[in-house]
Amino acid sequence: MKIILLGYMGSGKTTLGKALAKKKNFPFIDLDNYIEEKEDASVKEIFATKGEIYFRKKETFYLNELLLSEKDFVLALGGGTPCFGNNMDLISKTTKNTFYLKYNPKSLTERLSVEKNARPLISHLKNEDLEEFIQKHLFERNPYYLRANHTISMDNLSVEESLKKIDNLLN
Ligand code: S3P
Repeated sequence: MKIILLGYMGSGKTTLGKALAKKKNFPFIDLDNYIEEKEDASVKEIFATKGEIYFRKKETFYLNELLLSEKDFVLALGGGTPCFGNNMDLISKTTKNTFYLKYNPKSLTERLSVEKNARPLISHLKNEDLEEFIQKHLFERNPYYLRANHTISMDNLSVEESLKKIDNLLN
């Protein structure tokens, strides 16, 4: 079984993914970490030295590699993964267990204001400009995210509650 978690930066894909993988006894893969290991560079370094387009090509390449493998896993995508090329088509063809972890822009702003530095798309922004940026960005990205089979509204859920929800929806 392939379970895929997607959503904006800071939506807890990695934290929840690890907990879900533990619960289901599947390996956990974080796509950003997978890319970092394969490329022997951090996402931040890749953006800085080779640029975003190079990163997106690699992201699509490694996503394909994972989706075409026979492996079972819980996979946490990067925030932008569903929004480039045909990534969402391939994801939808591969598994029906895709979950959009949805937060409102205000919660995302709070969550990201303390952890923007490793994220090249927002690291240059001042905290007071973050909410407006996130609002616009999320508006552009939502159509892709909403192609997930399930949308989990995370704003008032604990990790335990969201895990239970996802577990009940798996098929
Ligand atoms: C990105 C999100 C990041 C990482 C890269 C680009 C994005 O992953 O892939 O910095 O385009 O939203 P997280 O969602 O894990 O922060």
